[in-house]
Amino acid sequence: MISDPAAPAASPARRVKLAPSLLSCDFTQMGEELGRLADADCPADWAHVDVMDGLFVPNISFGLPILAAARRASPLFMDVHLMIERPERYLRDFAEAGADGLTVHVESTQHIHRAVGMIRELGKRAGVTLNPGTPLEAVRPVLGDVDLVLVMSVNPGFGGQKFIPQSVERVRTLRHWLDELGSEAELEVDGGVTPANARLLADAGATVLVAGSSVFGPDGPHAGLRRLREALA
Ligand code: DX5
Ligand code: ZN
Repeated sequence: MISDPAAPAASPARRVKLAPSLLSCDFTQMGEELGRLADADCPADWAHVDVMDGLFVPNISFGLPILAAARRASPLFMDVHLMIERPERYLRDFAEAGADGLTVHVESTQHIHRAVGMIRELGKRAGVTLNPGTPLEAVRPVLGDVDLVLVMSVNPGFGGQKFIPQSVERVRTLRHWLDELGSEAELEVDGGVTPANARLLADAGATVLVAGSSVFGPDGPHAGLRRLREALA
């Protein structure tokens, strides 16, 4: 079959979701910040919630009461990223506090398969993620059991870090593996996402982009979201 030369080349097949990370919001007004994310003109799709325990990562962020408050303030899908040791100890608590999706690090538990199974048993969307230095093969055995795969494009622990360029190739490989499996799982990228790399990531196969500092900038989340949307258009 002769292909149409006028057809657009490899544009992203799916509408990419934007998931602002609350880690970068103004905590003195988290409810208002969440309200701004729902702005009808250029709304966020999910809210990304970064939980850090000071052990798995060298920083402590926030935990259950903040997630519960965010849940009360917003109907957005709460995409909870657990950067904690042995997350299975707290999965039920985070589910009850209002998580819609729970993502666990393959490096944080001896039993990743059990952890993702527990998340699904709690009726939540199960995600798996891995640090930039962890071989992709580490998540391959559970790709058929998850609803989301998260590629960390910085070393987790802090907002505002520089994007690691090799992450693009990792997204491409995972897209290939998920497609081979016929998986509908979301492929999310987190860390250093900006209007300069958003389109590249979407073209590589990402379906959800997390963004903290590039959304909650000095001119507010609405402007930040609009810049990302324009870059993806
Ligand atoms: C890093 C967190 C990220 C972070 C992203 O450990 O998992 O979600 O908040 O922030 P930016 O977009 O500023 O890199
Ligand atoms: Zn995160």
